[in-house]
Amino acid sequence: MDVKVEKLKVNYKTLEDFRKFKEYGLQELSMLEDLQANIIENDSASPFYGIYLADMLVARMSLYEVDAKYNRYFSPPKNYLELWKLEVLSDYQGRGLGTALVNYAKSFRLPIKTNPRVKSVDFWGKMGFSPVHYDTSRDFGENPLIWFPAGFEEQMG
Ligand code: COA
Repeated sequence: MDVKVEKLKVNYKTLEDFRKFKEYGLQELSMLEDLQANIIENDSASPFYGIYLADMLVARMSLYEVDAKYNRYFSPPKNYLELWKLEVLSDYQGRGLGTALVNYAKSFRLPIKTNPRVKSVDFWGKMGFSPVHYDTSRDFGENPLIWFPAGFEEQMG
């Protein structure tokens, strides 16, 4: 399926669209407050990407680059992308939109880390993500999955 992934801007329309998603929470509420208080400008950049079908936002993800110095998941440290809030509205699931968003994230050719929701583990397996084993002496309460671009693991060796 040929779909266009767009970087989402922070504005009232985007935040209204976000209300349809299950994972609507603090991040969205604080965006709305910042917009209302003029702390952020209308149409400023957000960490979200999404897919519109007939003008309706039907899928989204948050994606941002984490600096190597905060990397606690693999060594030697490298910048990586943190992917979260991947969600496709229920009427639009199973049509390749989730795959399209993940492929878009992969196109940056950086490792990607995500914390899957319990029911989506099979989806992430299909996307080529696998569990990462990190320093278990510190429990971050996470079960991260990681995807590496081709050739990346060899470079790290
Ligand atoms: N569990 C297992 N496999 C899944 C899956 C899931 N929850 N969601 C999708 N898949 C499979 C598809 O069958 C497809 O497999 P195929 O290529 O062999 O046909 C592959 O993953 C890609 O599917 P795609 O159409 O790109 O997925 P999507 O657009 O529906 O996006 C999610 C996947 C998980 C992001 C999306 O369904 C979603 O937001 N779900 C809501 C939250 C959730 O996790 N629900 C789980 C069911 S309760």
